[in-house]
Amino acid sequence: MKALVYHGPGNKALEDRPKPQIQAPGDAIVRITRTTICGTDLHILKGDVATCAPGRILGHEGVGVIEAVGGGVSAFKPGDRVLISCITACGKCDYCRRGMYSHCETGGWILGNEIDGTQAEFVRIPHAETSLYRIPEGADEEALVMLSDILPTGFECGVLNGKVSPGSSVAIVGSGPIGLAALLTAQFYSPAEIIMIDLDDNRLQVALRFGATQIINSSDGKAVEAVKALTGGRGVDAAIEAVGVPATFELCQALVAPGGVIANIGVHGSKVDLHLETLWSQNITITTRLVDTVTTPMLLKTVQAKKIDPTRLITHRFKLDDILNAYDTFGRAAATQALKVIIEA
Ligand SMILES: NC(=O)c1ccc[n+]([C@@H]2O[C@H](COP(=O)([O-])OP(=O)(O)OC[C@H]3O[C@@H](n4cnc5c(N)ncnc54)[C@H](O)[C@@H]3O)[C@@H](O)[C@H]2O)c1
Ligand SMILES: [Zn+2]
Ligand SMILES: [Zn+2]
Repeated sequence: MKALVYHGPGNKALEDRPKPQIQAPGDAIVRITRTTICGTDLHILKGDVATCAPGRILGHEGVGVIEAVGGGVSAFKPGDRVLISCITACGKCDYCRRGMYSHCETGGWILGNEIDGTQAEFVRIPHAETSLYRIPEGADEEALVMLSDILPTGFECGVLNGKVSPGSSVAIVGSGPIGLAALLTAQFYSPAEIIMIDLDDNRLQVALRFGATQIINSSDGKAVEAVKALTGGRGVDAAIEAVGVPATFELCQALVAPGGVIANIGVHGSKVDLHLETLWSQNITITTRLVDTVTTPMLLKTVQAKKIDPTRLITHRFKLDDILNAYDTFGRAAATQALKVIIEA
């Protein structure tokens, strides 16, 4: 089968690889119909993710059709259409029983990281019954690809952890796919203000169309003043970090209002200063989270009910044969205006 294989920092190739086989009774083999590329795949290709060894097939998002199941799988059968969660969950360990699938003792984020992923014609999914979701009849498969990772990530790590509530004020730093997913799902709770901050004017214009009440290009270094001016000098109740660099986490510390929450989503590769000299008295909360994907079934219903339309995040489409071009387009997002690229296998 064809697969996109990581060969160490800066190197990847589209190759022929053996089709995956059932290895454990809980496994399923899924024939991929659609997958996509995540910002985290670019982190891997930069060499930022030590757990991902050369030779790994990348990808942790996608939808497909069950090809085969192990002897322990009764919830799915060959031919069933399924959504693949980026997080693998056994459903039985202490963390899974607490709904913290991201830390599953035999799962978590392993797909396209510690085991072969979805940017291929077929993928092996361990703990299939608790890591796959049945696709409802008539659902738009491309919309559901956005449910593998980005919508639950924006919602769980940003909106839920940020305690976004009716009438509250929210700033989302980073208007990439994850920040935009937080923007879409924050609107479930009718906050009064959602201020989107980025360096890229195109992405800020997208944010306006997606429901941002204000946009701020922070490249002039004056974002704090601008947010204070919009919030009566207080700052925001929820400052959601959706970039993953020190400057944006520091910006969130300057933006949060007394009693507010800094909800970090970004994957950070270096340390960040914590300004307790000003924050100690501000009654704030700082949260971090690896997405658990516990909200996937709920988000699936909101997509089915057309409460949100994640297909608006899709900007480009490619065939699996052309995945190197897809990476190039996604990797130069500022020039290509790419958000999510769909790859048809
Ligand atoms: N916590 C989790 O479970 C989880 C899951 C998935 C992704 N992530 C992380 O979320 C982050 C966002 O993902 P994405 O796919 O949207 O990434 P992305 O790179 O597409 O988007 C980041 C955005 O931040 C903007 N930006 C960069 N530097 C900035 C700065 N100094 N000030 C303001 N804006 C700036 C960029 O212009 C871009 O629009 C990444 O770090 C990703 O690895 C975390
Ligand atoms: Zn991802
Ligand atoms: Zn578990």
